[in-house]
Amino acid sequence: MDSILFHSRHALAQEISQLSGLEYSKIIQAVERPKNTEHGDLAFPAFLLGKIWGCPPPQAATRLCTELQLPTTVESAKAIGPFANFRLKRGETSAAIVSRILKSDFAVWPKREVGSVVIDYSSPNIAKPFHVGHLRATLVGHALDLMYRKLGYQVVSVNHLGDWGTQFGFVWAGCTLWGKPETPSVATLVELYKKATQLKEEEEKNPSLVPSDRVSVNEMARKYFTDLEANIPYAREFWEWCLEISLDYFKKTYARLGISFDHYMGESFYSDKLEAVQNELTSSGILTESQGALGIDLGDHGGFARVLTPDGRSLYLTRDIATAFYRAANFHFSKALYVVGAPQALHFQQLRGVLEALGKPYAKDIVHIPFGHVLGMKTRGGGEVVELNALLDEAVDRAGLAYREQVEKRPEGLDEKQVAEAVGLGAIIFSALNRSRIKDVQFSWDHALTFQGDSGPYALYAYARINGVREKAKESGLTPELAPRSECLEEETAFQLSLVLDQFEATLERAVEENEPSILATYAIDVAKLFSKAYLDLKVVGAEPAIAQSRFSVFEATAKVLEETLNLLGMKVLERM
Ligand code: ARG
Repeated sequence: MDSILFHSRHALAQEISQLSGLEYSKIIQAVERPKNTEHGDLAFPAFLLGKIWGCPPPQAATRLCTELQLPTTVESAKAIGPFANFRLKRGETSAAIVSRILKSDFAVWPKREVGSVVIDYSSPNIAKPFHVGHLRATLVGHALDLMYRKLGYQVVSVNHLGDWGTQFGFVWAGCTLWGKPETPSVATLVELYKKATQLKEEEEKNPSLVPSDRVSVNEMARKYFTDLEANIPYAREFWEWCLEISLDYFKKTYARLGISFDHYMGESFYSDKLEAVQNELTSSGILTESQGALGIDLGDHGGFARVLTPDGRSLYLTRDIATAFYRAANFHFSKALYVVGAPQALHFQQLRGVLEALGKPYAKDIVHIPFGHVLGMKTRGGGEVVELNALLDEAVDRAGLAYREQVEKRPEGLDEKQVAEAVGLGAIIFSALNRSRIKDVQFSWDHALTFQGDSGPYALYAYARINGVREKAKESGLTPELAPRSECLEEETAFQLSLVLDQFEATLERAVEENEPSILATYAIDVAKLFSKAYLDLKVVGAEPAIAQSRFSVFEATAKVLEETLNLLGMKVLERM
């Protein structure tokens, strides 16, 4: 799936090599897009040629431009300082790109035989608050999931739920003190958890608050959790009850976002696999003691990594070691990605360090994909903690208003609810992805929901407009040509738009290489912006038939690329809005 621009680069490099005797591999590396695109579409710095020809680089650039046999796709050559600049033929290049895209089947990327890519993402904690960080983990992880799959990787997506831990003890204590909620929900479980932990803190400050007929909240929670670990039926049943409520809720909400996981394997899944971890750690002789806890001293590469508390309990890290063992043995991964906020960087450094110390060859394939904070997400619920479905509802409500306010020409007979759903979710998704991962995101409803500028609604609206052009063209009896005519596509706007379309695959590959969905989000905006220019310049209906048909093809290709791009970010496009 080489781009047309690549073919031109390749042809240029071959001619330059032919003329100068310089190695092709050195030339192809140096042929670049000029910083100033007014100078040309491709440039070659003539320093190496100057050496061969024994003249200063500007002179070499001039000589190159005069003597070079121009490849068929190149229109002209011009030396500017030490650079030889090449201008591509507009019509030919645009037509070749559009035709390549219309003929290419983006759906089928060759399979990569490299072992699976495990993507661990979203991973909220059951019976604990859902944090905006989990929202970003969910959306970044989902985009990576889609992008890797598209490129032919065998992805195993896993939700490593925080479904084990003392938090269940506090929910239990809450139910014991205040009764089980009549209509239980994730929100009520979290409420009980919060209320009970708050009371625990108060009791710790002031022990006289604990009435004589019961033990402290902390004691109740600890006792419950010990019973859960010992698999006592009442404890197990209560835990299962919490889990069912939560999983039901999460699965519904994920479905709304088009997300599904290959596996829900939370922390509890590893409970019976911890002993093996302990045995291996012990027999490897790397365990040492520090302040009563057992762990591995990783020195400058992560410090003291605790794996067992003084009272013999396993820790978050212990479970992640078991998880890595399990994934290596069962999923045979070539890479295991963990999409988790930047504050857990040390945890993953330690995980890798411990696996290295144990001599696991896959230690190097453990990759933490950190991301920054989401700031300023003020929802009706307020603050950092979000109720996921309520947040999505709020986004949809606001999107409905924004749509009516900002879009004047709304097609008749449209299901505005459907528009609001796509725009609202798209706005949230896009705002989580359009800044580079590691940066903090400053969230604002106005920015997320604007139909102008770098936003989800803008990109979706552009798609719907392209589709509008296509519909009108079809109504007037046009069909797009798979091989549009170059003489009908001489406009600069068509060329600039095509060049960007030509970069789809390369952009996707770069985004995957850097595990950076923002690269694709930025790309979507680039496409949308160039389309908006082309929309004004390249009238389809009313133009001369051959021209109209070729332009129709350009828009067909644009729609195809933009739809793919937005889908890969996890967004659903609308044909009309
Ligand atoms: N549940 C964890 C949290 O909320 C995230 C888990 C990430 N995955 C992992 N394998 N540690 O912080």
